[in-house]
Amino acid sequence: MRFLITAGPTREPIDPVRYLTNRSSGKMGYAVASAALAAGHEVCLISGPVSLAAPEGAEVHFVESAREMYNTVQEKINAADVAVFSAAVADYRVAEEADQKIKKSDDLLTLTLVKNPDILGNTRSEFGFEGILVGFAAETNDLEKHAASKLTRKECDLLVANDVSRKGIGFECDENEVILFYKSGESKMLSLSSKTDIAIELVSEIDQLATR
Ligand code: PMT
Repeated sequence: MRFLITAGPTREPIDPVRYLTNRSSGKMGYAVASAALAAGHEVCLISGPVSLAAPEGAEVHFVESAREMYNTVQEKINAADVAVFSAAVADYRVAEEADQKIKKSDDLLTLTLVKNPDILGNTRSEFGFEGILVGFAAETNDLEKHAASKLTRKECDLLVANDVSRKGIGFECDENEVILFYKSGESKMLSLSSKTDIAIELVSEIDQLATR
């Protein structure tokens, strides 16, 4: 199958030298890309800025902002059988990017933020994607409730939820623990393990979904 995978953070420019971003390292998404390649799949990886080596054999597209990621996903998604959205896309960007470096004149600086497009949320309705859709959910509380809501709202087949308030898993680290929530109502925990192993199990679960 052909996988499209988003990974890493996005950067939302404030002025020529500053941006808004988050703590995603890209490790989880790159591990999914490597696991998919190792399982014999083709991979199109759409990556925010990370300091990881691109998985050998993947078609890689580097992007910076959420809007760039949106456009690249829109361009590539209909060649995919499976889409896995592990990127930590910034939900907001500054309303107006300054052309020049903002000077520190006042004690208080207010930035007005506007909502970024929801890439995963538009994948069925706007991009017309009919393949297997896998979303992630990064939660700090009420994991199950938020994950179930995202699974339905974003029309996913499978949602991978991680508790990013826990030390040692989630953002930046080498390990993760996730709960898989299926459209069918089933769920399954992939307990604390390296992101490499979690990704191998996730790809195997996706392979099984494809045969159902
Ligand atoms: O990169 P690492 O350091 O290895 O960390 C891994 C991770 C914690 C980033 C990863 O496991 C993870 O949870 N990724 C999703 C992070 C996230 O932004 O979750 P969310 O609950 O805010 O978003 C829900 C889903 O919508 C995600 O699939 C996200 O990719 C997608 N989304 C969100 C906003 C947006 N504008 N467009 C999107 O497509």
